[in-house]
Amino acid sequence: MTRLLPPPAPDAGDALPACRPSPETLELLARRRSTLARVMTGPGPDAAQRDALLRLAARVPDHGKLFPWRFLTFEGEARARFGDILEARLRDLEPDAPPERYELERNRFLRAPLVIAVISDVTENHKIPEWEQIMSAGAACQTLLIAASAMGFAAQWLTEWYAYDRIARAALGLSSGERVAGFIYIGTASEDPSERPRTPARASAWGG
Ligand SMILES: Cc1cc2nc3c(=O)[nH]c(=O)nc-3n(C[C@H](O)[C@H](O)[C@H](O)COP(=O)(O)O)c2cc1C
Repeated sequence: MTRLLPPPAPDAGDALPACRPSPETLELLARRRSTLARVMTGPGPDAAQRDALLRLAARVPDHGKLFPWRFLTFEGEARARFGDILEARLRDLEPDAPPERYELERNRFLRAPLVIAVISDVTENHKIPEWEQIMSAGAACQTLLIAASAMGFAAQWLTEWYAYDRIARAALGLSSGERVAGFIYIGTASEDPSERPRTPARASAWGG
């Protein structure tokens, strides 16, 4: 497969098109599906592709230029080290769990070659409402899914229990105003997904 990278970032003040008709983007959006992390394998993005994904994710709308998100990447050995922390935590929480459960935690981040934790970093008591700052982090997650797909990788947005666990949060180095918006698992699909049931857009014209 061709190794795909986006064009360089524009500089502040550069003229940019207001729109960019792109049948390929429409095709991607119309047919995109998440790939379950458990059916992911390698290869994942290389260092330049990983950095490009982060650059694209950091282009999401952001009211007030607060940059209310940051990213933590997990690759190689770091994935196993985080798994060791999850396993130890589960052993504390559920000392009588079956061995497979501990193995699952140990191997969590090994499911994909790259995991990007998107951290929502809210500035409290700011005129920009917290809700808007949080939504911007969600937009960064969705951009990662779309950008990964456009680069030729499978992806899934997960939170799972460890996004909300006190000890896992500490291991991630989260401060009090920070929350995990998602762990974006990125790799290659060992099997293609199929379409899932969906509801039509719940939309109505406002009648006044
Ligand atoms: C914030 C957020 C957290 C999610 N966390 C999980 C999760 O922990 N476990 C899970 O199976 N799916 C989770 N999902 C759902 C999957 O990422 C995905 O949306 C779902 O499998 C259907 O995907 P698709 O419509 O993109 O194909 C989460 C979705 C969002 C938006």
